Amino acid sequence: RIPLVIDTDPGIDDALAILLALASPEVDLRLVTTVHGNVELAQVTENALRVLHLAGRSDVPVAAGAAGPLVHLLPERAGHVHGTAGLGGVELPPSPVPVDPRPAVVALAELLVAHDPGTVTVAPIGPLTNVALLLHVFPEAAARIGRVVWMGGSATRGGNVTAAAEFNAWADPEAAAAVLGSDLPVTMVGLDVTLPTVLTEAGIARFRHAGPVGAAAAGFLRQYVDAARDRYGIDGVCVHDALALTEAIVPGTLGTVRRDVVVGTSLGADRGQTLVDRRTVADRGVEVAETVDSGAAVEFLVSRMCSYRS
Ligand code: BDR
Ligand code: CA
Repeated sequence: RIPLVIDTDPGIDDALAILLALASPEVDLRLVTTVHGNVELAQVTENALRVLHLAGRSDVPVAAGAAGPLVHLLPERAGHVHGTAGLGGVELPPSPVPVDPRPAVVALAELLVAHDPGTVTVAPIGPLTNVALLLHVFPEAAARIGRVVWMGGSATRGGNVTAAAEFNAWADPEAAAAVLGSDLPVTMVGLDVTLPTVLTEAGIARFRHAGPVGAAAAGFLRQYVDAARDRYGIDGVCVHDALALTEAIVPGTLGTVRRDVVVGTSLGADRGQTLVDRRTVADRGVEVAETVDSGAAVEFLVSRMCSYRS
């Protein structure tokens, strides 16, 4: 089983991604670290604890990370997409377990040092602030990461929060530039593959009756469905973070090509843009997810969510 860390800002699709990982025997979720993003840090940390409790997995520690981006404060968050408390207005029961006392980067570094180099997959599904801090504070521990599977960026689809930028890249471009420019083995799961991967209401209906977990997930997806209809006119939701987790759980799910990627860090219109050089295959650089079998990916997600029934 692949030892897995999820770095997250739940967030509706984050919560779904955590539930997907917990339903997947291929991975062993060892740690959840939280990061500012969709809503404030205290709220996403509380949400992460509650999602694990929902799944009966409060044994997985939750360590809180960065409360804001490395350099520039954010002009806005994404409460209009995820609900002001981050989980679409659904109030999950509180966890009996408190947050881990360690800062996220300390918990992450300790976990990496306790595992063989190259074995741990880290799946950041929010802004890359914590991963950038790990690189700066614990570079030797960071070098032990086997794989970083990041939901973020966009090669061909423009942005979703501005014309140029995808939310997770935009929410901390300096961190994204540090991580994508590092030697870490990063796979970028961006809007190119997540926008076509739509979980419809019919798919949600299949796990709505999968016990309390399926019911809660269907509940918090309601807000996301409504936001997607209002904003993009689509029937269903792009399960951005769950698709990144699918690639972490079953490596090779997505078709990737190694590319040079530069992140826009100016304060202009290209702030947070991931500029992917698609002219050539790079020697180093980032594995950019370019192709996806969206039907198979959604089926994988739905069938794993149905497994909560038993
Ligand atoms: C990303 O932004 C967040 O709102 C989602 O949780 C996802 O991680 C998609 O752009
Ligand atoms: Ca997210």
